[in-house]
Amino acid sequence: MAERNKAATAKVENGGTVRIAAVGDLHVREDAQASCRDLFGEVSHEADVLVLTGDLTNLGKPREAEILAEDLRACAIPVVAVLGNHDYESGAVEDVAHILRQAGVHLLDGQTTEIKDVGFVGVKGFIGGFGSRMLGSFGEPAIKAMVAESVSESMRLENAMRQVRTERTLVVLHYAPVVETVAGEPLEIFPFLGSSRLAETIDRFKVSAVVHGHAHRGVYEGRTPGGAPVYNVAMHVAKPTGRPYALLEI
Ligand SMILES: [Fe+2]
Ligand SMILES: [Fe+2]
Repeated sequence: MAERNKAATAKVENGGTVRIAAVGDLHVREDAQASCRDLFGEVSHEADVLVLTGDLTNLGKPREAEILAEDLRACAIPVVAVLGNHDYESGAVEDVAHILRQAGVHLLDGQTTEIKDVGFVGVKGFIGGFGSRMLGSFGEPAIKAMVAESVSESMRLENAMRQVRTERTLVVLHYAPVVETVAGEPLEIFPFLGSSRLAETIDRFKVSAVVHGHAHRGVYEGRTPGGAPVYNVAMHVAKPTGRPYALLEI
């Protein structure tokens, strides 16, 4: 981590702005054919901080997290991440999180971390749908539990936002906070791709940008109703860089 922080300091002092490379949905597998090592080496030259927006592993297996941790040794800049739904699949999320934290990743789950005068605020988020069509807390206990989880994630985001002391803030999510960036996915699954409750929370604060993943077939750019820029950085979403990662200057 010392090397990573040193590299980041040099770049920030030269430029003033902080360059953030952001990518989601790496879905690292045990039998992965392609390693992420080259990608991490590349972003180390392009950016000051790397942000990973969840679905770091394919099935939430500790072995997958170990492979990712090994690949991250090629990354010379600080890494900020949130988990995604896939990282929960094997019921070993604590092991996955531990392995990544041991590898130096700033893994955010309702917390904030400050790097080079930028506050990074991260939660996974949850499903629930968008706008006036959001799922409401009505009927069976199972539905109410689902809505409660969505509300809880938004409240955790709010609590984390209150800890921010920086002028510039990047919100890091897995699920989408707006419907615009999930456009292109089948209409039937929109409610499972994110929740407007996240955007309602974001719009109560001043944020520089929001990044998320999860909607693999969505589009890159959107905006919250309050005007905060939102970027879907899922690996396969086409981005202005022409690369799997987005580059943001904050
Ligand atoms: Fe994914
Ligand atoms: Fe996902």
